[in-house]
Amino acid sequence: MKTSVNGIPMLFLLLILLLRLIPKITSVNDTLTTTQSIKDGETMISADGSFELGFFSPSNPSKRYLGIWYKKTSNQTVVWVANREVPLINTSGVLEVIKPGLLVLRSYTNNIIIWSSNSSASVPNPVAQLLETGNLVVKDAHQDNPEMFLWQSFDYPTDTFLPGMKLGSNFATGLEVYISSWKSNEDPAPGEYTYYLDTNGYPQGFLKNGSVLVYRTGPWNGLEFSGIPSLRINPIFSYEFVINNTEIYYTYKQLTSTIIKFTLSPIGAGQCWIWENQSMNWLVYPCLSTDNCDRYGLCGEYGSCNIGNSATCGCLDKFSPKYPDKWANGDWSNGCIRRVSLDCRRGDGFVKYSGLKLPDTYNSSYNSSIYLEECRRVCLKNCSCTAYSSLDISIGGGESGCLLWFGDLIDMKVISDAGQDIYIRMASSESENFTPFLHGSDGKKGKLLVIILTLLLVMLLSALGFMFYLQRRKKKLPKQKKEEMPGQILNMAYTDNHHKKELDLPLFQLSRIIKATNNFSFDKKLGEGGFGPVYKGVLEEGQEVAVKRLSEYSKQGFVEFKNEVICIAKLQHRNLVKLLGYCIERKEKILIYEYMPNKSLDFFIFDQTRKKSLDWLTCFHIIQGVARGLLYLHQDSRLRIIHRDLKASNILLDADMNPKISDFGTARSFGGNETEANTSQVVGTHGYISPEYAVDGLFSIKSDVFSFGVILLEIVSGKRNRGFSHHGHNHNLIGHAWKLYKEGRAVEIVDCHLLGSPSYSLDVLRAIHVGLLCVQKCPEDRPNMSSVVFMLGNEGHLPEAKQPGFFTERYVVLNDKNSSNTPASSSSNGEITITLLEAR
Ligand SMILES: *[C@@H]1O[C@H](CO)[C@@H](O)[C@H](O)[C@H]1NC(C)=O
Ligand SMILES: *[C@@H]1O[C@H](CO)[C@@H](O)[C@H](O)[C@H]1NC(C)=O
Ligand SMILES: *[C@@H]1O[C@H](CO)[C@@H](O)[C@H](O)[C@H]1NC(C)=O
Ligand SMILES: *[C@@H]1O[C@H](CO)[C@@H](O)[C@H](O)[C@H]1NC(C)=O
Ligand SMILES: *[C@@H]1O[C@H](CO)[C@@H](O)[C@H](O)[C@H]1NC(C)=O
Ligand SMILES: *[C@@H]1O[C@H](CO)[C@@H](O)[C@H](O)[C@H]1NC(C)=O
Ligand SMILES: *[C@@H]1O[C@H](CO)[C@@H](O)[C@H](O)[C@H]1NC(C)=O
Ligand SMILES: *[C@@H]1O[C@H](CO)[C@@H](O)[C@H](O)[C@H]1NC(C)=O
Ligand SMILES: *[C@@H]1O[C@H](CO)[C@@H](O)[C@H](O)[C@H]1NC(C)=O
Ligand SMILES: *[C@@H]1O[C@H](CO)[C@@H](O)[C@H](O)[C@H]1NC(C)=O
Repeated sequence: MKTSVNGIPMLFLLLILLLRLIPKITSVNDTLTTTQSIKDGETMISADGSFELGFFSPSNPSKRYLGIWYKKTSNQTVVWVANREVPLINTSGVLEVIKPGLLVLRSYTNNIIIWSSNSSASVPNPVAQLLETGNLVVKDAHQDNPEMFLWQSFDYPTDTFLPGMKLGSNFATGLEVYISSWKSNEDPAPGEYTYYLDTNGYPQGFLKNGSVLVYRTGPWNGLEFSGIPSLRINPIFSYEFVINNTEIYYTYKQLTSTIIKFTLSPIGAGQCWIWENQSMNWLVYPCLSTDNCDRYGLCGEYGSCNIGNSATCGCLDKFSPKYPDKWANGDWSNGCIRRVSLDCRRGDGFVKYSGLKLPDTYNSSYNSSIYLEECRRVCLKNCSCTAYSSLDISIGGGESGCLLWFGDLIDMKVISDAGQDIYIRMASSESENFTPFLHGSDGKKGKLLVIILTLLLVMLLSALGFMFYLQRRKKKLPKQKKEEMPGQILNMAYTDNHHKKELDLPLFQLSRIIKATNNFSFDKKLGEGGFGPVYKGVLEEGQEVAVKRLSEYSKQGFVEFKNEVICIAKLQHRNLVKLLGYCIERKEKILIYEYMPNKSLDFFIFDQTRKKSLDWLTCFHIIQGVARGLLYLHQDSRLRIIHRDLKASNILLDADMNPKISDFGTARSFGGNETEANTSQVVGTHGYISPEYAVDGLFSIKSDVFSFGVILLEIVSGKRNRGFSHHGHNHNLIGHAWKLYKEGRAVEIVDCHLLGSPSYSLDVLRAIHVGLLCVQKCPEDRPNMSSVVFMLGNEGHLPEAKQPGFFTERYVVLNDKNSSNTPASSSSNGEITITLLEAR
């Protein structure tokens, strides 16, 4: 009896001893006290193991830096560096906390201090702690109030803006928090670029290259920065902007457990990073919008840039170029001037401009306690006030607060639909004030008259414009080849002679293409796309290319052609097919793409033998790739694109089976916040088209999501949605999958060769579930692509899928009203591209 009683405490003692010994050998826990230290090779880990602090070398092993990185991501992703500029040259570094409250990094061999935190305050018992947020703080051992930290790394960020950091200024302490890029990927020293919150006037985010302002986010409008509307809808993080007398800052927090961060790359790209658990990789996408229109002050004063017009500048309405000659030559820097100059004493008025990124607020003032109407009066009273707008569009019907501009207005950009309203001061004869009706007591009548007058004016102006255009065209034609160039109409509203310059894409000579394709020989033909044949070509240098020759009779006229060229030239993503160049010569319109040796997805998944070469991992890789490509199309901030004709034959596969989305002839760019549009021309493919689009002509990003869902189900089942038959019912593939899913037998739609595949797993069921969510009948129920990418890449609860749209085969009578005019409506592989045109 005695021995057994004694044995247990002995074991406990041993265990406790062991537990006490382990931390001492390897590392301290998340807290470093004055009696401990961290040597090179040792690390400190935050309480739940999210972050780790220690020594690292970005490349050259003889340069050691003290830094913080994620513990949970597989690659060492550094988020903070202490001794950015002064690396240790060997492993003699040691980090300590010393009284009265300093963090010191020194070399223990010669005791030289390499780096130290600085704070003038002192506490009796200082410790350093690595918090779960990635913040390294110095504080008193018994103090957890963030206000009482002596020092924190969040106040001195490097190139990474982490959730919870406050980017901005504190006027009480004089602290300004900003991020600065690394010099290069190998050198954490401060590089050329800084991103900070400028607090002159109403605050806005500035990106500088050295001392040159290159980009501006626009002022905060209560929901987002005026120039980055795409960030508003976001399931992963939310923002907060605080402005009061003591501090002005901008912060964000994560809404899920997903690891996210924002960084400024050495070449000045603002990037959002999302860690994907499933693929163990970072999903990186640009999140400061940086299209050509975002170059600071590109169009000069009172100019506005429109990316939809190949990033060309236009003058705001009622303004004209200051130097018309320079302007016509593409030198927009001098901007525009008023047609009628202001006369403050005789009374000015205001003209409302909509859909803009608000101009630079450097010379502005604001008052959040008044409303728009009052704001107008305040601005009118001060002769140097040039414009006003509301401050916070999220409250008070969008008319809350007052933002006033003084001096000339610069750096505006068209953001159709998501942009904001601004009221610009105008001479009374140019402004609405001039119309006496507005001030009359009979407001309604007055408004009606104004509308009629405006309409008449618009008609007159467009008639004049058209005549002007015709005249110009006549003058131009003799110089050019005698050819119809209907595409010029596209640019009529803007200067049309610059788009070629902006179109940064090689122009191929026809002779070169004829040589490459052996004069479009039949045996080089790869297939027939919606708009004409595609050939394989070999350029002189030996590079293989795919040559898409637009059929002369193709419905894809010059407009669609240019649409595709401009569209793809601006889009670069590993899951989108790459355009190498184009050719317009004689009657030929030709696109040159990178060559895809593995043809298209339908070539594999619907072929009994070839499909066997695809195991589940490859299939999943393809599904994820398509999802990412589509996410890029939908959410990239430069051009938001709806593909409109996504199908298995439009997913091309490169040598490594990476999927690439192709065929943008029908794609539509849509404005920042615009997610839906109506069209009289329905373009799409039977079997992939969503109900609301086929029936009502209503297309949105959710129509693409539907098509994606169909493709996903086709990959998993190895069967075409269209033409699917089953003896038990007359549902199509979607309907069949839905039926089985409801009965808990979803696994039965999985193609047998995948079931046998060694890598097959529960992921397949999850993918089917996601596919069914995408094809739900109501567009609002379908997830957006960022959620799809997220759901595919992570575990977690998925919502129940509701009834899909178009689940029986005979769903709609597609009525091709002028079929004789649409020779492009059929294609070679038995799929029908539907082109519905309203009779005109
Ligand atoms: C970490 O170490 C400090 C000091 O050694 C100790 O007070 C604290 O309780 C430890 N925390 C944990 C979670 O072990
Ligand atoms: C992670 O590290 C491996 C090996 O160093 C590298 O091949 C891979 O590209 C890295 N991944 C990322 C996302 O940096
Ligand atoms: C590390 O480098 C320092 C010079 O910075 C030198 O004095 C010291 O001897 C070196 N220590 C070791 C272990 O090489
Ligand atoms: C701390 O150091 C930073 C630069 O490393 C400096 O800008 C700041 O003024 C210093 N603060 C104090 C209180 O000395
Ligand atoms: C940034 O500035 C440097 C030096 O002024 C210049 O060489 C570089 O081209 C600039 N980068 C960009 C992207 O403008
Ligand atoms: C400023 O806002 C912050 C955050 O909301 C708040 O903590 C602080 O007390 C405010 N300061 C003043 C002077 O209102
Ligand atoms: C990702 O994986 C980590 C560790 O494997 C886990 O802690 C975390 O909860 C996962 N996140 C999600 C969103 O699944
Ligand atoms: C602000 O006003 C000053 C003085 O009038 C002027 O020099 C400067 O260009 C203005 N800045 C902006 C961005 O409008
Ligand atoms: C804002 O406007 C109100 C009403 O006109 C005025 O009382 C207040 O002083 C203004 N605030 C500022 C900061 O100008
Ligand atoms: C107009 O506003 C500017 C900027 O706020 C100010 O400096 C100036 O004194 C004002 N002028 C008048 C007449 O109120």
